[in-house]
Amino acid sequence: MGTSSTHVDDIEAMNQAIELAASVRARTSPNPWVGCVVESPSGAVFTGATEPAGGRHAEVVALDAAGEAARGGTAWVTLEPCSHTGRTGPCADALLSAGLARVVVALEDPDPLVAGAGLERLRAAGVEVEVGVQQDPARTLLAPYLKHRRTGRPWVVLKLAASLDGRTAAPDGTSQWITGGAARADAHQLRAESDAVVVGAGTVRADDPALTVRHVEGRDPLRVVLGTAPAEARVQPALEFQGDLDDLLEQLGERGVLQVLVEGGPTVAGEFHRRGLVDHYVAYLAPVLFGGEDGRPMLAGPGAETMADVWRGAITDVRMVGGDVRVDLTPFAPSPVTGPVPVVRVGEVEPVRDPSDAEGGA
Ligand SMILES: NC(=O)c1ccc[n+]([C@@H]2O[C@H](COP(=O)([O-])OP(=O)(O)OC[C@H]3O[C@@H](n4cnc5c(N)ncnc54)[C@H](OP(=O)(O)O)[C@@H]3O)[C@@H](O)[C@H]2O)c1
Repeated sequence: MGTSSTHVDDIEAMNQAIELAASVRARTSPNPWVGCVVESPSGAVFTGATEPAGGRHAEVVALDAAGEAARGGTAWVTLEPCSHTGRTGPCADALLSAGLARVVVALEDPDPLVAGAGLERLRAAGVEVEVGVQQDPARTLLAPYLKHRRTGRPWVVLKLAASLDGRTAAPDGTSQWITGGAARADAHQLRAESDAVVVGAGTVRADDPALTVRHVEGRDPLRVVLGTAPAEARVQPALEFQGDLDDLLEQLGERGVLQVLVEGGPTVAGEFHRRGLVDHYVAYLAPVLFGGEDGRPMLAGPGAETMADVWRGAITDVRMVGGDVRVDLTPFAPSPVTGPVPVVRVGEVEPVRDPSDAEGGA
């Protein structure tokens, strides 16, 4: 990739690097999705993003595009350049051989194989290194990778599709379709970004879902069924798991799963929620009313008994997807990965108050 422009500043260049990283979000796992912008001393700009596993890292893509023009220039990278040899050589060495004078990095890489060693190698060779530029958006984008490297477990996204009165299936078990085609395609994008998808045996019995990526481009995730699935179920071949959800997450982390998408049903969703295992909630709300209390809830099982015990989160994004609304929600407690709640965009919606500010009734 290569374009030309006038001199760029650090924030603008890092934002461009973050956009490049976002553009390959669903294609690089188990490697992190990284973006890189290189500017030559004369102001020519070259860009790169991580290629699918086994391919070039973002820095190398940008440096290959720049060639000799990189000498004496600056590179902006969303994640610390690696310092070890994996399937490709160390990016820190590639930046040194290209002769860059300055390297600006959004985030240090918590992977024990890197953890500051890439930055150190650059500094030791006399390169000016700056860390932390646009770290909040970079951290939000890379949250699954960062959590995996820090805890060994995948980032857990819980997806729910519900009517506006909070129902996810009719009393007879039918739930196809509450939301429209655009929301379902959007949910397929979530699947494409996930390395594994989890459903309960109840959903397999009721819906016989395939859980493949169909409405968008992308790789099919590992399919995991809690309980058992019949040999002829469309979800097969699937990993059938019985046991504790902590053990499941450990096992998925060991397999290199960076993000797992929990797709229900309400029993499984309730279990993940009550155990505090969800890092990010995505609710698609349809302009549908079941009109009673006998449909299935979003989260089955015992809920809060009193107001003091209700779970509160922060809405990080609200947008229309076709005729439905997508609400993104994050737990209030700062996660070990994201730190303070990253409010991405709330549009016209009033910001959620901290629980200690809560006033009045429902
Ligand atoms: N609107 C939506 O977003 C949405 C999404 C998915 C499903 N649905 C609807 O939800 C309904 C199904 O939901 P559901 O609550 O009945 O079932 P479910 O949550 O899909 O599955 C629950 C079952 O999973 C198994 N299970 C759960 N945790 C387990 C664990 N830790 N280890 C082993 N097995 C475990 C158990 O299977 P066994 O019973 O075999 O022991 C349990 O009964 C259907 O009507 C479906 O259409 C709606």
